[in-house]
Amino acid sequence: MATQMGENELWLLSFYRTSEIGGALFFGRLARSMKQGANQRDMSKHFADEAQHAWLWTSCIERLGAHPLKLTDAYQDQYLAAAGLPVNLMEVLAVTQIFESRVINQYARHQRASGLHPIVGETLERIMEDEKWHVEWVRRALRAMEPEYGKERIEKTIRHFREADEEVYRKTILEHEERVAHLADVMARTRGEEPKDGR
Ligand SMILES: [Fe+2]
Ligand SMILES: [Fe+2]
Repeated sequence: MATQMGENELWLLSFYRTSEIGGALFFGRLARSMKQGANQRDMSKHFADEAQHAWLWTSCIERLGAHPLKLTDAYQDQYLAAAGLPVNLMEVLAVTQIFESRVINQYARHQRASGLHPIVGETLERIMEDEKWHVEWVRRALRAMEPEYGKERIEKTIRHFREADEEVYRKTILEHEERVAHLADVMARTRGEEPKDGR
């Protein structure tokens, strides 16, 4: 197959695909274990969306003339290993909020990259519609939990998971520095900044 992308881009799109699968598996298990109600409904939709995103990246890579790389660790697995498993629904939603903001930021940055292939752009745009809803429903659900858990405790939990996220993301970036550095440079240029070392 004649591929229309470089090795770094194939890695990145494969990384997105693996992360979406990680999300789908995580949310799918949760959806199965949730009691009747609005959260159960929204989590089921969320799970189905992430599974669909995994397919959209698979299909995108295929349309660009390649096959996704088999990457072992999803970002989510490393993240939960670092942060600890959430112990109640509030913590689950806090983790979800952090996952989702990470994904949205990454995709939004990618959308601004120069020389974006139209097929990749189209895929990002399609996925972002769902990602926005993901952040919204989770924020709403967390707010509804304030009487039960207390606003302060919820905020503290979100902070804890955000710190773990930053730690894991930094590690992921260091591990794949070359590929990500290339991407970061492209993105820094589109924002008119000087590329920074090691970021
Ligand atoms: Fe997704
Ligand atoms: Fe999502």
